[in-house]
Amino acid sequence: MALFGQPKNNKQETGFSVTPWEVTGQVDYERLVKEFGTELITDELLQRLVSLAGGSNHMLRRRIFFSHRDLNHVLDDYEAGRGFFLYTGRGPSGPMHIGHIIPFHFTKWLQERFSVNLYIQITDDEKFLEEKRGLTLEETRRWSYENILDIIAVGFDPDRTFIFQDVDFIGNMYPLAIRVARKVNFSWVRAVFGFDHQTNIGMIFYPAIQIVPALFERRRCLIPAAIDQDPYWRVQRDIAESLGYYKTAAIHSKFLMPLSGPEGKMSASQRETAIFLSDDAKSVRKKIWQAFSGGQPTVELHRKYGGNPDVDVAYQWLYYFFEEDDRKVEQLRQDYMSGKLLSGEMKEILIEKVVKFLERHQEAREEAREKYHLFTREGKLAQQMWETKFGLET
Ligand code: TRP
Repeated sequence: MALFGQPKNNKQETGFSVTPWEVTGQVDYERLVKEFGTELITDELLQRLVSLAGGSNHMLRRRIFFSHRDLNHVLDDYEAGRGFFLYTGRGPSGPMHIGHIIPFHFTKWLQERFSVNLYIQITDDEKFLEEKRGLTLEETRRWSYENILDIIAVGFDPDRTFIFQDVDFIGNMYPLAIRVARKVNFSWVRAVFGFDHQTNIGMIFYPAIQIVPALFERRRCLIPAAIDQDPYWRVQRDIAESLGYYKTAAIHSKFLMPLSGPEGKMSASQRETAIFLSDDAKSVRKKIWQAFSGGQPTVELHRKYGGNPDVDVAYQWLYYFFEEDDRKVEQLRQDYMSGKLLSGEMKEILIEKVVKFLERHQEAREEAREKYHLFTREGKLAQQMWETKFGLET
């Protein structure tokens, strides 16, 4: 199979490692693109995307979404009137943080711009099967509900968006899942995902489940997601055509820098590295004040030598998502490097943005409770049952 012999992402050699389960070290994204065999988004491709979208997006301009597979074919299909659909997902292992929700905002932008269907997979099965997490199935199912509220709060079009939990929706997916599974042997997933003889058989089957939604429609799928999920798409692409479907396209993001600095990615299991969507203004302020900075130890030294925006969490977050205006963000960079802008001032600018973002999010999340059924089959059924059995309004 095509994947045998493909270079593994080996930390000892590169100083970093990116797998669907773990990101460590300082990621060299150009190197990753080579190892994964994806392509960088060129200026030309970006221009084409922006012109078909009828508008630009700061995460694209700044190459936060920086890599892709077959994005050009997606645009061909769109232009030719065949259209395409979007698919993304969430592993419900706990509360969502800012790093989790940003790709959903980008996905919403794509949906708005191209008016396309979007499928959002909630992998309550996957997070239960990952034994080291120690979560019960009840727990991953409860987190699914909580996470779905956060996802709905992003503001997707309810007429074009379907959010489903694997454990509930499996009956609809199983016919496709076994067709996928029959084409993928153990050696292959072992090579791609690093499974071994201790890996439970649920995990070994699971890649089939994550591949299925990329086959939900008989047209091309585009998956916006962080680059660590790409190994699944690689497998999908090797088998899709033999099943009569399109190879999926993908658009990959970099990771948001954790509060602790440039290594690894934000992790909900290391609470101090992340700002959660439920955090209040006070804890946002406290966490950002404690975040890693690229400033000098004293104001005098900072004025003299300037700071380093490349490792400064506050600047990096503004660049990644929170300051949409390119001119403003470039000014911040210049002023930081020249020493005119202090680390504390950079942090204050970020705090204001994040607090506003979370206020809006938390409000929208409250409203999402009433919208839940518009996005989920389970919710629709539950509401019908509630109304017919109890005659009450939900
Ligand atoms: N495996 C992903 C996670 O652990 C969840 C997921 C399922 C996903 N399908 C996806 C993520 C599609 C991005 C795109 O978070």
